[in-house]
Amino acid sequence: MTEQQHDEQESELDRIVANIAEMLAEQDNETYSPKVIHEFKNPSNLAHMDDPDGQGISDGLCGDTMMVCLKIEDGRISRCTFETDGCGATVACGSMLTRIAAGMSLEDASNIDPEQVLSALDGLPEGHRHCATLAVIALKNAVRDFVKRQAADAEEGG
Ligand code: FES
Repeated sequence: MTEQQHDEQESELDRIVANIAEMLAEQDNETYSPKVIHEFKNPSNLAHMDDPDGQGISDGLCGDTMMVCLKIEDGRISRCTFETDGCGATVACGSMLTRIAAGMSLEDASNIDPEQVLSALDGLPEGHRHCATLAVIALKNAVRDFVKRQAADAEEGG
């Protein structure tokens, strides 16, 4: 890892910690389920992936973004990671979504609905429901990117 990548990872972590602190502060006004709090405190698959087979980004109207990266083996998702500059609820959604998607076929992953993520998290306050949509769109874009790359490779191969 280069020094710049190390610095970037550190500032990414600082930002996530700040988001979590902000989210905890918000709890006076909004109620998060124990599952949401567990996911954002112990996120799964929050990591950078080198050389993904598919990569998708989604931009929310709130200004937050998420990137999902995939490794595909035999038509199934063998590894699924995410990065986000979004809120703590977004981290919880990315964590839950990537765990749901791991091992799925591409078709099943494309059919994941934001409601599945919300229900796995026991819901989110109204103002944060769109965080699940942000995550799901990033995953769908990553699957689409993989399919596009496959088609381009097939075309090149003749
Ligand atoms: Fe916009 Fe979480 S507040 S993605």
